[in-house]
Amino acid sequence: MRILFLTHAFNSLTQRLYVELLELGHDISVELDINDQIAIEAVQLYQPDLIIAPFLKRAIPPEIWQQHVCLVVHPGIRGDRGPSALDWAILNRESRWGVTVLQANAEMDAGDIWASAEFHRRAASKASLYRNEVTDAAVRAVLLAVERFQSGDYRPEPLDYSDPQVRGQLRPRLTQAERAIDWRTDDTLTVLRKIRSADGFPGVRDRLAGRELLLYDTHPEGSLKGEPGALIARCGPAVCRATVDGAVWIGHLRDRHAEHPFKLPATRVIADAIQELPEIVADRHSGYRDIWYEEQGAVGYLHFPFYNGAMGTEQCTRLRAAYVQARRRDTRVIVLMGGPDFWSNGMHLNLIEAAESAADESWQNINAMDDLAREIIATRTHLTVAALQGNAGAGGVFLARAADEVWARRGVVLNPHYKDMGNLYGSEYWTYLMPRYAGTENAERIARARLPMGVREARSLGLVDASFGRAVEAFAAECRERATSLAGVPAYAARLEYKNKRRDADEHNKPLEKYREEELAQMYRNFYGFDPSYHVARYNFVYKVPKSRTPLTIAHHRRTAERLRRIS
Ligand code: COA
Repeated sequence: MRILFLTHAFNSLTQRLYVELLELGHDISVELDINDQIAIEAVQLYQPDLIIAPFLKRAIPPEIWQQHVCLVVHPGIRGDRGPSALDWAILNRESRWGVTVLQANAEMDAGDIWASAEFHRRAASKASLYRNEVTDAAVRAVLLAVERFQSGDYRPEPLDYSDPQVRGQLRPRLTQAERAIDWRTDDTLTVLRKIRSADGFPGVRDRLAGRELLLYDTHPEGSLKGEPGALIARCGPAVCRATVDGAVWIGHLRDRHAEHPFKLPATRVIADAIQELPEIVADRHSGYRDIWYEEQGAVGYLHFPFYNGAMGTEQCTRLRAAYVQARRRDTRVIVLMGGPDFWSNGMHLNLIEAAESAADESWQNINAMDDLAREIIATRTHLTVAALQGNAGAGGVFLARAADEVWARRGVVLNPHYKDMGNLYGSEYWTYLMPRYAGTENAERIARARLPMGVREARSLGLVDASFGRAVEAFAAECRERATSLAGVPAYAARLEYKNKRRDADEHNKPLEKYREEELAQMYRNFYGFDPSYHVARYNFVYKVPKSRTPLTIAHHRRTAERLRRIS
């Protein structure tokens, strides 16, 4: 079928549906929801059999839904309506939540139901639920709805509140007043719930260090206590604030009125107010842990669940130090676990945007990424595995490929390209790694396509070696089994020897340093050259400037129109 996605952004859920439906053989084209006229034009150009709205913030124009079946993906159970579905589910402590696929009509979220899917709601942030449980449920429900639509004889169910299976209700947009934290009375669980219901957007408004700020990225503290509401410690990027029965860590803050009005590490946003705070070294029970190492038998696991998968200069340096330490251990395999939401999204674009010199910070960040990648590639003592529990983008994908093996959870989406960031050339030794693992032809194809890919395609292209496990826990458990057997196979020594010989031969052919020099020469131009594209694209990304047109890489229906326009 020809399916048109009408969506506010080509976000992770939209990308996952794109990948899944393409794999089923459908033709997919995407139009970003910029205004009614452009949406109507897209429908006229593409003449779709079906329209899907994976992530919409406004109603579909009647000119479209009156002529075409439009399936809207709503992140709520049957009967749930309104723009703050997940926010309410978290605040109201719903244990089961879901996704409903309904047909657009004149009333928002009230159309006939084509399919729905439910899940157990984890105690996690809204963004984490969205990237995992919601996305998986959306895939199940959309695939079923598409199958039903294709069958031609399925009649969707009208929304009927007298049906006991319809548990949801219409809820208004959640306000800041409803999320407001009362530090004198709210216990730790309540504070966590309030912040998580608003993370990553819009954040909980609160007063901290005498300023009005938005709070994100919260975790419970295991042992520290203090005067409710008081800042009591710092750890890495996070500050610790006492509640009535314990304390929470807050990793990221946003000051909408500051020079840099986007999310940044908390210790940076309120640097002036925390100089006297005791600094905690994180361990299993206390502190904010964004890097940790654990060992099981002959396998070392390095975890790095950086917020939003962004890796700044300092994080790369710390991770490299942790990696070098892991390599000194008497183990055989090192598994790079990343985090449950993201493996890595490459350089930290917010920190770069906030730096005094964005060019200098970009330069330092990419060099720190490269230093880390080189340690992984040049490891002679261990077999290494990148275990992708969550998505990876840009430099993060190539950093993963620096390991001997890449294992990915089923459902992970990779964005193995840099060019969308203002034609950034990219580094992380990708010019060595891509031809080495994917072959020259595939390497070029991947770079050119600028498209998200699922693990099946990534496997066929040599970006991923194995994929298994649907849920994060199942994937992590199987990783442990596989890593243990990798460390124990009789062929372990031979594999290590082969890997080192191959590396030596590659080094002899062309030293790693040479690849780096060549990549960085291009990156230098991106950062310091006359063409400001990278700086403009990064600004737009960090400030979330809405796109004024859909990129032609995904708007297939506009490619022919664009060609004709150029010719005429
Ligand atoms: N630096 C800083 N923040 C980043 C980031 C990065 N490299 N990559 C993602 N984020 C943030 C986003 O701003 C967003 O922030 P929010 O919490 O305020 O919403 C959040 O992570 C989720 O990203 P989003 O774009 O909504 O996720 P997605 O899953 O829909 O898209 C990507 C994933 C990877 C396609 C997209 O995030 C991206 O293009 N990232 C930039 C990658 C890049 O160019 N890195 C630099 C070159 S190495």
